[in-house]
Amino acid sequence: MRLKDKVIIITGATSGIGKSLAIRCVSEGAKVLIHGINKADGEKLVNQLGESAYLCIADLSDQHSPKKIVDCAISAFGKIDSVVNNAAAIERNNLLKLTAESFSKTITINLQSALFLIQAAFPYLKQSQGNVLNIGSINAYTGESSLLAYSISKAGLQTMTRNLANAHGVDGVRFNLINPGWILTDREYADQVKKGLPENWPDSLGKENIPSGKMSTPNQLAAACIYWLGDESKPFTGSVVDLEQFSIIGRNPEK
Ligand SMILES: NC(=O)c1ccc[n+]([C@@H]2O[C@H](COP(=O)([O-])OP(=O)(O)OC[C@H]3O[C@@H](n4cnc5c(N)ncnc54)[C@H](O)[C@@H]3O)[C@@H](O)[C@H]2O)c1
Repeated sequence: MRLKDKVIIITGATSGIGKSLAIRCVSEGAKVLIHGINKADGEKLVNQLGESAYLCIADLSDQHSPKKIVDCAISAFGKIDSVVNNAAAIERNNLLKLTAESFSKTITINLQSALFLIQAAFPYLKQSQGNVLNIGSINAYTGESSLLAYSISKAGLQTMTRNLANAHGVDGVRFNLINPGWILTDREYADQVKKGLPENWPDSLGKENIPSGKMSTPNQLAAACIYWLGDESKPFTGSVVDLEQFSIIGRNPEK
């Protein structure tokens, strides 16, 4: 077991990548604070995982939520070894459509709440010599034109990870980030249908998007997270790990 007795907070864990990661963490021996906003989905998952999981419902657009989540984890499990900032608002907008309200909402949920969750958990992470794993996106480097605010928020998360890693290596707390590429989650499927792709889109993608011929799955992504959450990855910090089916920076596909 690679995470035996570790206590891990995972935000946005009632669906998609967060849910797959929570299931995997428990199977590796961890106790998981399942955070989310969907109570029914959260209760279903916690029932499935048993005593190793505890549910905390908190809207990350509320500035009091980070402390509430940390308090939940401490009262349920008594310590914190890791925080996974996975929750995100994924709203489509571009320069012409973006409103100040929508920009502010995206930055608050995707970036500000992650920072203040780390701040609230920091004394416990220092005590446990633990770590933070932020879930970014390859959109951080440029991003889809219709994901303007989202891409900016993920770029911020990347800089925040490196800044905190640089500042707090001396405290024994590590900060790493995974930038997933395109992952077939339920939300992503629905989002692409809403955007106009046909219902069978995951099976009709070109090799330029999916070189392997098959979309990457939340389980595959979760498997990669386990290394960064465990002591196996000590002493590495400040890492930005891109997980896609092709190289991200400087890619220049044949025309
Ligand atoms: N699926 C992909 O292709 C992909 C690619 C790159 C990065 N990511 C990242 O992976 C992470 C998980 O995404 P996913 O694809 O599993 O989608 P998802 O929608 O299933 O997960 C996001 C979670 O965040 C939660 N959330 C949203 N707003 C919230 C709020 N105000 N308060 C509390 N929780 C809130 C949602 O309820 C949901 O559980 C996100 O950070 C996303 O940016 C996903």
